[in-house]
Amino acid sequence: MARSKIALVGAGQIGGTLAHLVGLKELGDVVLFDIVDGVPQGKALDIAESSPVDGFDSVLKGVSSYEGIAGADVVIVTAGVPRKPGMSRDDLIGVNLKVMEQVGAGIAQYAPDAFVICITNPLDAMVWALQQSSGLKPEKVVGMAGVLDSSRFRYFLADEFKVSVEDVTAFVLGGHGDTMVPLTRYSTVAGIPLPDLVKLGWTTQERLDQIVQRTRDGGAEIVGLLKTGSAFYAPAASAIAMAESYLKDKKRVLPCAAYLTGQYGVDGIYVGVPVVIGAAGVERIIEIELAGDEKAGFDKSVGAVKGLIDVCKGIAPNLG
Ligand code: APR
Repeated sequence: MARSKIALVGAGQIGGTLAHLVGLKELGDVVLFDIVDGVPQGKALDIAESSPVDGFDSVLKGVSSYEGIAGADVVIVTAGVPRKPGMSRDDLIGVNLKVMEQVGAGIAQYAPDAFVICITNPLDAMVWALQQSSGLKPEKVVGMAGVLDSSRFRYFLADEFKVSVEDVTAFVLGGHGDTMVPLTRYSTVAGIPLPDLVKLGWTTQERLDQIVQRTRDGGAEIVGLLKTGSAFYAPAASAIAMAESYLKDKKRVLPCAAYLTGQYGVDGIYVGVPVVIGAAGVERIIEIELAGDEKAGFDKSVGAVKGLIDVCKGIAPNLG
């Protein structure tokens, strides 16, 4: 069977890390695309030169024209600008919206059958813009946020409880940003929900609230430390988990920014919800019942995403 082709649009910090992970995990061949000539070519060659050491067979190529992504099975989009200290993800909207329009047109022309994963921020609005401008079916265009947010939550919880990260599951809903909604009653250690662990004395409600807040601010914490850009290792790993579930038809249940058509009372926008990712893309959206404060948190998050999409429509009236 021929190897899958994975196109990475944007060859910056996340793009380069994605290419390396695709190689290490032998998920397929890689095409790195960027508007800065030389960067995708240099990163592709550098990673290819590591393949004999690590023992992976993957053809890695850097390109400066969209033709190079032709026929890709998966396209992962990180093109655009990341934030700097003091900026919110929303501050990126004007610049990155224009980039999404270009990338969407490139995908429509050269990779219309691909499964597309958007990482560019502000995520929930950018994935919407990418779907609108590419014209691909909504179930084939998805945003990476929830896997990263829940991974951060899981890491902080594992550290708090001194247990393996593997035994901690976490559930987050809503937009990628300050309004994300971590659902503690659906987050567990080996199946034991967090509220029960509070009762067992493993932690306090106060500590749990602090961890939830740290999760919400997880991206800003990294930006504050790096100063010159935003997180890239964990975002790349998260998108790879989504790509792998699609390519291997694993049908993993992952929190992703998915296009809602009435689920959770939301229609026509992307919001973070649990979905099943398999060979058909987003194969199922899982709708759970939300309790009062969870519903309020989710509605607030949806309101924030809607606000950002309205800004996009104002800048690019042809979308939506
Ligand atoms: N087409 C293709 N590539 C582009 C375009 C464009 N129109 N505009 C910018 N790029 C490229 C840049 O040249 C750069 O190499 O996108 C790359 C972005 O890489 P970085 O600046 O290193 O940013 P990164 O950390 O990878 O984050 C990318 O993901 O998490 C989000 O907020 C983050 O929006 C940001 C994106």
